[in-house]
Amino acid sequence: MSPLLVTRTLPEDATEAALRADVLHGLTRTPRTLPPKWFYDAHGSELFEKITELPEYYPTRAEREILRVRAGEIAGATGARTVVELGSGSSEKTRHLLDALSGLHTYVPVDVSESALTRAGQALVAERPDLDVHALIADFTGGLTLPDTPGPRLVVFLGGTIGNLLPAERAAFLSSVRSLLAPGDALLLGTDLVKDPSVLVAAYDDAAGVTAAFNKNVLSVVNRELGADFDLDAFEHVALWDAGNEWIEMRLRSRTAQTVKIPALGLAVDFADGEELRTEISAKFRKERVREDLGAAGLELTHWWTDEEGRFALSLSVAR
Ligand code: SAH
Ligand code: AVI
Repeated sequence: MSPLLVTRTLPEDATEAALRADVLHGLTRTPRTLPPKWFYDAHGSELFEKITELPEYYPTRAEREILRVRAGEIAGATGARTVVELGSGSSEKTRHLLDALSGLHTYVPVDVSESALTRAGQALVAERPDLDVHALIADFTGGLTLPDTPGPRLVVFLGGTIGNLLPAERAAFLSSVRSLLAPGDALLLGTDLVKDPSVLVAAYDDAAGVTAAFNKNVLSVVNRELGADFDLDAFEHVALWDAGNEWIEMRLRSRTAQTVKIPALGLAVDFADGEELRTEISAKFRKERVREDLGAAGLELTHWWTDEEGRFALSLSVAR
């Protein structure tokens, strides 16, 4: 069995510096924001896995269905020898694809969550002793350097995580993905689709309160890493549909007027009663928007598959 190779592309102090910069920037402006990548410490990654099993949260099941049905077609269209998966998390759904690619040599899962990455990587090397697994602890928005592995290369970005990037971030991200590809290499992209807002809101505000706990986990991360004193009970989980932007927005609403201290930044942040902090957007897509966004980055959409109910799409695009 090849051992699991894990590479950290950023030293731990750089990760802390990035958190400090994001918290300082996001909490000292109006409206207040925090970027969603800080949800995913070990506890946040576990909460996300619980979300994927909730009755209201359909995207994971819908995308798994597409991958199960279309893995052979994707394998035939790409002939990939290297699969690079961005924001790979548990890598659970990806197995359908990895198993269908008969000439596959290397799998490169990339994630900021070290716990999710090592757990998934260890399971995979045990199951697939024939495969080289080279895990990268890295920020996929930060200009990746990939290991030199055999082509063709297929970059995979599942779960609808592209929807968590703001439009300008999304454009920059897709251009950076294009720069990782040689002509003929491909991108497999998962996008959640625009649908009835009541279905969408329920998916982000489940009855069991798991998404609320996931949302508040970002405050626990700031407490632990920067010594802040956020009281999680003093904030309320909010999920709303922004019809103009066609995205779900997750926010944390202050239940009272309060001051939060963040000693590592020498900062005290005043929240008014009812003031909201935006923690995530989750954009929902239509086919033409996906085609245009890919095209603007030099990627040509060649395949579009949805689940039977038309809730979620996987697209394949090729670098020209
Ligand atoms: N692809 C999996 C996991 C989706 S959850 C699925 O479809 O189920 C989003 C994943 O992206 C998490 O594992 C999180 O740790 C990772 N992530 C979020 N922002 C990231 C960033 N900027 N760079 C790298 N990984 C990121
Ligand atoms: C990872 N990402 C695609 C999830 C989503 O649906 O936007 C994160 C999530 N946020 C709340 N629930 C799930």
